[in-house]
Amino acid sequence: MSNGPPANPGAFPAARPRRNRRTAWSRRLTAENVLTAADLIWPCFVTEAGAGPIEAMPGVSRYTVSQLVDEVGRAADLGVPAIALFPQTDAALKTEDAAEAFNPENLVCRAVRAIKEAKIDVGVICDVALDPYSSHGQDGLVQNSEVVNDPTLDALCEQALVQAEAGCDVIAPSDMMDGRVGRIRTALDARGLQHVQILSYAAKYASAFYGPFRDAVGSGAALKGDKKTYQMDPANGDEALREVALDIAEGADLVMVKPGMPYLDIVAAVKRTFGVPTYAYQVSGEYSMLAGACDAGRLDRRAAVLESLLCFKRAGADGVLTYFAREAAEWLREG
Ligand code: PBG
Repeated sequence: MSNGPPANPGAFPAARPRRNRRTAWSRRLTAENVLTAADLIWPCFVTEAGAGPIEAMPGVSRYTVSQLVDEVGRAADLGVPAIALFPQTDAALKTEDAAEAFNPENLVCRAVRAIKEAKIDVGVICDVALDPYSSHGQDGLVQNSEVVNDPTLDALCEQALVQAEAGCDVIAPSDMMDGRVGRIRTALDARGLQHVQILSYAAKYASAFYGPFRDAVGSGAALKGDKKTYQMDPANGDEALREVALDIAEGADLVMVKPGMPYLDIVAAVKRTFGVPTYAYQVSGEYSMLAGACDAGRLDRRAAVLESLLCFKRAGADGVLTYFAREAAEWLREG
């Protein structure tokens, strides 16, 4: 080994990755992934009367049904292909058995019908889980202080049916009960609703990042205990693949990993292993964390948010549920 200059100084090093990054056109040409409005799903909150900002999620509002129709129209105009609806149920309507979930005239069903009547070209996704309607804030039925699996399945099927009959395009079970995807598929098919898609929250973790959402829908104050007996342990990765495999076998059309940013390893593994349409949810706590740092002047909102969303694509996600959906779609339109 000589310590002198290389024999051919001009050729050292032969590989210079910076060459491809030197100009804007070359960076564009060599980009492996791209984020577009078509990758975004907008989760939005509908309320009976108390429209207005959500304290725990600065910049996010709850809308009444009629406001929501306009807001969803704006999302569709920006090229956002789908929205996910979450109701803030009146506390007086919450019961132990979450019966309001099966009321065809409940808030979420009315919102779905209004969006469909307005003929907005947008996919409407509805959550299936009992927590917006239960007095205990759990996603399933509670018996002897336990969230019971099999009796909950009947309730979830009933909830899925009223939502699908209201015109919802995609049923999204977020409850993490065992066997729910298969039972819901069978129930939908038996009712002639074969065309309704199922987006399963296949790998949903018991996460601290859902806090602001529970404030937004008013399930946080009601929640007794935690959801660790059904949502996954953040320590586990292999188990996520098992959950996804089961949901695909049961008939899920689309699968989701939730939360998003701290779980991109799971998104990547799911996409690589199964090659099915895979989505990730940048949840309320991730929104609040980013928005908070931006509001404090510590991050550039546009740059940080678009980077966070592009990284979901790089990890393998086919789309991202994000409270930034409309803002990001606007930025992407500006170019
Ligand atoms: C309800 C549900 C939750 C979220 C989506 N559906 C909360 C929970 O499981 O406690 C969280 C979404 C978010 O934090 O943005 N099953």
